[in-house]
Amino acid sequence: MRISRKQLLLPLISALSKDGGVSTPKKIYEAVADELGLTHEQRKRQTKADRNGQTHNAFERDVRWTRQTATRKGLIASPERGVWSLTDLGHDKLHNASEGLVVTVFETPHGQALWTKLETAVGHFEDNAIDLLFTSPPYPGALKQYANGDLDEESWVSFMMDMISGFAPKMRDTGSMMLNVAETYVPGLPIKQEHLTKLRMRLVTETRFRVLDTLYWHNTSRLASPFRWVAQQRIRLKPSVEPVLWISENPYAKANNRNVLQKYKKPPSETYHMGGVRPGGHRMSSTGFSRDNGGSIAPVLFSAGGSAGPKYYREALKKEGLPQHPAIMPEALAQHCIKLATDPGDLVVDPMAGSLTTARACETLSRDWICLDSSLSYLAGARHKFPERRENSSLLEAMLP
Ligand SMILES: C[S@@+](CC[C@H](N)C(=O)[O-])C[C@H]1O[C@@H](n2cnc3c(N)ncnc32)[C@H](O)[C@@H]1O
Repeated sequence: MRISRKQLLLPLISALSKDGGVSTPKKIYEAVADELGLTHEQRKRQTKADRNGQTHNAFERDVRWTRQTATRKGLIASPERGVWSLTDLGHDKLHNASEGLVVTVFETPHGQALWTKLETAVGHFEDNAIDLLFTSPPYPGALKQYANGDLDEESWVSFMMDMISGFAPKMRDTGSMMLNVAETYVPGLPIKQEHLTKLRMRLVTETRFRVLDTLYWHNTSRLASPFRWVAQQRIRLKPSVEPVLWISENPYAKANNRNVLQKYKKPPSETYHMGGVRPGGHRMSSTGFSRDNGGSIAPVLFSAGGSAGPKYYREALKKEGLPQHPAIMPEALAQHCIKLATDPGDLVVDPMAGSLTTARACETLSRDWICLDSSLSYLAGARHKFPERRENSSLLEAMLP
């Protein structure tokens, strides 16, 4: 199989990075060939004779051609003849996925972590394959921190609509999406942004997606923010609840609240004994409520503290100089949602997976998973949560600081 020139871009940049950011074409040809595991035949293949009857090494010509493209894009510079060097932009590119790039960072028996943008990845999924798309997207403004530039409210809604409609055909008929979407304040004002209202309006007017239910994550360790309105001027409350919008095109999408039964506070027989009276004065019927169903039906509110991830993960990040993810959700929340909407063996996808909380929950619950993120650093750090992984060691060696 011939390696396309597009596929050479990342290995070229990572070979340069491995060599300290500056190298010579000769060394780079060998490093890229090694990284791609080329056979002797692929490495030595000659081009057809040119007008002067000369042939050239086809692989080296492709690498030079790729280097020219990278130079045009500002990723590589040539400070002097015969020297190639990686620019700051090139370094960034190695850590933030750009259009067209889909790279497996590691695999487990249940899933795959992919370094890619969701806009690119969506085209690689088969139709009618996903049982649950579970994700927590960055909120408007926070997208600036990530790979998409500074998205305002309207652009955030369009970004979400594109994501939802892009993945819609990839969902099974019984599939659903769960979106942990936070409320935020208008920058500089003590009023809320309406991105969620707008998203819901566009969903009902432009798509067949409907809200099946809204779960609310009560973040028990949420800080008082925005500091100005909540802690300083004391005119707003702690924003301790985040909605998880549960949507589907199918009103009867897979769902089972028996999978998330809560521990009874008291045995059912003591709660509403036959003919008992509720606190509001309502007299209970003599059947139904006193039966032991193995637990009580979960409310829409789910309480769990925020988390920086397990200790061994944080220590591994420190050791490798990788960044801590700024917005990790509690694994308990991911498990709760996944159990509610899927069965063991189902496929769960998180297209903005950050520190791979969704993937970790899927491993625990024996669901298959495909999780992706545009940041290689977050995925590389999160790999430590998967002791049974098979990792893309040449990629990781190249990117680790
Ligand atoms: C709120 S975080 C997700 C956190 C995750 N739930 C966890 O527990 O770690 C959102 C993630 O979306 C990623 N992201 C932003 N835009 C993206 C895009 N276009 N494609 C893929 N990932 C993207 C960011 O890199 C970030 O890690």
